[in-house]
Amino acid sequence: MQNNEALEIIFTRHTVRHFLNKPVALELLETICRAAMSAPSACNKQMWQFVITTKREELDAMIEFLPNAKMLASAQAAITICGDPAEDFGFYWQQDCSAATENALLAAHALGLGACWCGLYPREERAAATAKFLGIPENVIPMAILAIGYPDPTVGEKPKDKWKPEKIHYDHW
Ligand SMILES: Cc1cc2nc3c(=O)[nH]c(=O)nc-3n(C[C@H](O)[C@H](O)[C@H](O)COP(=O)(O)O)c2cc1C
Repeated sequence: MQNNEALEIIFTRHTVRHFLNKPVALELLETICRAAMSAPSACNKQMWQFVITTKREELDAMIEFLPNAKMLASAQAAITICGDPAEDFGFYWQQDCSAATENALLAAHALGLGACWCGLYPREERAAATAKFLGIPENVIPMAILAIGYPDPTVGEKPKDKWKPEKIHYDHW
């Protein structure tokens, strides 16, 4: 394997669901959004929007309607990634947002933070409840919420080895 800083970040990123009680500076959350916005997008339409949440009571309140995001209880921040479909190329908004989400996860890891991608859309009830809670306009769709914080080292969450050479097909399947 090649020795390379960017690849090291990619290979060691993993989901973190247990966080320290240590605030995350807004500047870092904005850097994560900047990384997300550096993602490729269909026809460069950048069909994404971001909502940063840092208030403890808001993070706790979201758990009430997001049973899949219980780790928000120890997270210090959340970034909700929303699709804002363009009139043309709108059908690619999920791909745009997914590319942005992965960039955000990698940036969080590179900054020494941990994060968990919690799915919203296409789970209509989760997307609708999140949109209502965050005051997201009708034409904008929350796709994922990222729980973010400094990883709790005592829990020992680790990257998984997912290398499966049999998943690669050469020339023909
Ligand atoms: C589309 C998508 C939705 C996900 N939704 C959730 C979720 O709702 N709650 C959760 O705890 N993890 C969620 N995850 C995180 C996955 O469980 C995690 O990425 C997977 O187990 C692989 O682990 P790793 O990220 O450490 O490699 C989601 C990941 C993706 C890509």
